[in-house]
Amino acid sequence: MSANNHIPQQLAAPEPTWSVETDIVILGSGAAGLSAALAARPVRDVVLVTKDTLDAGSTNWAQGGLAAVLDPADSLDNHVRDTLEAGAGLCNEEAVRTLVTEAPTAIRYLMQLGAAFDAGAIEGVALTREGGHSHRRIVHAGGDQSGAEVQRTLDESVRLAGVQVVERAFGLDLVLGETADGQRAVAGVKVAMLDRNGGVQSVGIVHASAVIIATGGYGQVYASTSNPPAVTGDGIALAMRAGVEASDLEFIQFHPTVLWSGSDAHGQQALISEAVRGEGAILLDAAGKRVMQGVHPQEDLAPRDVVAAAISQRMSEAPAGVGDHVYLDARGIENFDERFPSITASCIANGIDPAQELIPVAPAAHYVCGGVKATLDGETSLRGLYVVGEAACTGVHGANRLASNSLTEGVVAGTRVGRALSWALPEKVDVIESDVQGELIDSYHRSALRNAMSRYVGVLRTPQGLNTASTILSTLAANSSPTVVPTRKAFEATNMLTIAMAVVQSAQTRTESRGCHRRTDFEEPLTSWQRHLLCRVVDGHMEVTQ
Ligand code: SIN
Repeated sequence: MSANNHIPQQLAAPEPTWSVETDIVILGSGAAGLSAALAARPVRDVVLVTKDTLDAGSTNWAQGGLAAVLDPADSLDNHVRDTLEAGAGLCNEEAVRTLVTEAPTAIRYLMQLGAAFDAGAIEGVALTREGGHSHRRIVHAGGDQSGAEVQRTLDESVRLAGVQVVERAFGLDLVLGETADGQRAVAGVKVAMLDRNGGVQSVGIVHASAVIIATGGYGQVYASTSNPPAVTGDGIALAMRAGVEASDLEFIQFHPTVLWSGSDAHGQQALISEAVRGEGAILLDAAGKRVMQGVHPQEDLAPRDVVAAAISQRMSEAPAGVGDHVYLDARGIENFDERFPSITASCIANGIDPAQELIPVAPAAHYVCGGVKATLDGETSLRGLYVVGEAACTGVHGANRLASNSLTEGVVAGTRVGRALSWALPEKVDVIESDVQGELIDSYHRSALRNAMSRYVGVLRTPQGLNTASTILSTLAANSSPTVVPTRKAFEATNMLTIAMAVVQSAQTRTESRGCHRRTDFEEPLTSWQRHLLCRVVDGHMEVTQ
């Protein structure tokens, strides 16, 4: 048993029995990790480690698409402005401009690799709109299966390029070393090989000059999420345990419209893409009143934080006695089933015909705007450690990500870091042995953690709710122990607890409402809060600083 608020400093696991050497090891296999592998591979040995199968992360589930300025009637300045506006004062403008400038090239690159985007008049592709975008600039595939096409394209390219892919391998902790001039640096990563049930088969060390974290976000820290089961914040927790700073973790984007399938729904929920509203659908409450009228000039296509907060507010008023969902009216969209085939299938599976009936929807955890503090080239404060994609906080999303900027960011940032490491690798360093004892919390605690986060740290946050969540998490943390059986689920539970503590502490500290962090006791953004919070694990405790 451990002290109050204690956080494991390493994950408990059997002693390593093997080791391998490579130039670059990548954790995670979504758009960012695969793009990094592909860009580095021509000149480097690359090992890509993923805890499940290659396509088990969020990329494969993305519906809307990839934002990029391809239409000559649009402009890079428009895309920059929309991104900064959505980001609510916390974006890094230089990073945003780099992303927006490279986005069209990223789309053309994916097409060269074989991505089949839906056909249209501009550069051969169709463009749609989503919340917060002033123009049609979202490239999509298979109607609403854009992420699956990106995943398929990059999976094939990475395998053809000869990247060594290791599936069912869990990145536990960084292995640290020291450079000749005495600087702390990454020497590799400790990895557990898993069986199909998530049991540990063996543990080993992958020694590398560079470790790239591309493990995505942490939607599964919530009971209801659009994210698949693998998205448990592993890479962010691993970096924080190594003393690397994460930032903006309180800014969790709740997608306004996942398919509501009952008040006790938990785990991954079917997404109803914002592109459905982009094609004209509107939100109604149970009394038939429009939800977004008078709330924002862009009404149903307002930025996502605004729509999620308006829906949550309306649900709290329980019009016509309905307090846990609202409705999406998509009946006016022609050929809905052709434009949105997988959404149609999800609705039909739940007994709803979207062409004839209203779709019940509610907000759910969707995307993490913060992450490990990194540049758009993946560089972090720890030498040899790079972080890209949703796991990184590059300043591109600020306090609220603009829809469909994330797949684009994954490809742009992944390619940038891969290219940079092709040109020059950090020097390999000698390992410094660690005497820190590993600990885990039992996977059994996952549901208490998720329920606390959904109930008390959701779209609208109260100080009492945050305090309650903090107490529950402390109780769970007090159960961490070196003797819990190491399994994938226990590793994930421990990472989820680490992340949840950082989210709650950050949300308690940020006494304002901004972007996707909304507090009922401080309803407006404050100029004094136009800054970032930093989180890292220090001596087994979560430290949140300004
Ligand atoms: C959606 O299709 O609504 C999700 C797009 C995104 O999260 O970028």
